[in-house]
Amino acid sequence: MAASASSPSDAARTAQDRLQAHEATIGVVGLGYVGLPLAVQYARRGFETLGIDLDARRVQCLRAGDNYIDDVDDEDIQTFVADGRLQVESSFERAAEVDVFFVCVPTPMTDAKNPDLTYVESAVDSVAQHLRPGQLIVLKSTTYPGTTDEVVRPLLEASAADTHLEIGRDYFLAFSPERIDPGNETYQAGTIPVVAGAMTDAGASVTEAALRAAGTEVHLVPNPKWQRWRSCWKTSSARSTSRW
Ligand SMILES: NC(=O)c1ccc[n+]([C@@H]2O[C@H](COP(=O)([O-])OP(=O)(O)OC[C@H]3O[C@@H](n4cnc5c(N)ncnc54)[C@H](O)[C@@H]3O)[C@@H](O)[C@H]2O)c1
Repeated sequence: MAASASSPSDAARTAQDRLQAHEATIGVVGLGYVGLPLAVQYARRGFETLGIDLDARRVQCLRAGDNYIDDVDDEDIQTFVADGRLQVESSFERAAEVDVFFVCVPTPMTDAKNPDLTYVESAVDSVAQHLRPGQLIVLKSTTYPGTTDEVVRPLLEASAADTHLEIGRDYFLAFSPERIDPGNETYQAGTIPVVAGAMTDAGASVTEAALRAAGTEVHLVPNPKWQRWRSCWKTSSARSTSRW
């Protein structure tokens, strides 16, 4: 494990440099309608991409070069799996190799009409076990704005307590809710502008670099708890600046 960075700018700069040089490994947790197109998008941009899904059948299928998501090109899966750009695992054993994690697991509704965060908690907990300096974790699952700060952050901090890793100095956390619209032939993963809010300023820079690395238009908001996500979504494609 690399040594802890001495300032937020050190860790953030290193992470951004790795992204710019295409040396960063992208990790996608949950290879469904959201995660698989995202993983393919990074592989297409030349990034080594590690997909992690607990569903062993999905992992087997992808390893065989087979696709199961309509919006994903069969040929892309065959090519990227064959040349090793897209690797898939059903465990988190290789999670420390990842520089940027996208958490794309389900958030079904509970009977009380709240998002069931069980999958998010489990995925983040698994990521947290392998947390190392320089990593960025981006929550993509659909949930309420406070989830990143109130649920994800404590899980990461509990795990990082022993290693003395600090959020915003050693590792970074952001929320960028997925906006994919399966079946939409005009806007697909990579061409849909995204909105992102990070926990810290340094995290915002790394998040912006990570999302732009996929060729995606990014609109940063002040933090993951920002209350105006909805109005932001309505206008995001009409704005040309990256900061509001
Ligand atoms: N599908 C859409 O059109 C869409 C659009 C916008 C947002 N979203 C949101 O994106 C999130 C993901 O949705 P989806 O449609 O891709 O779900 P999905 O069910 O298609 O895929 C989720 C995948 O996550 C895997 N998974 C579950 N727990 C895991 C864990 N702990 N570790 C690793 N993998 C795990 C599952 O095996 C599954 O393959 C949800 O919050 C959803 O609301 C979906």
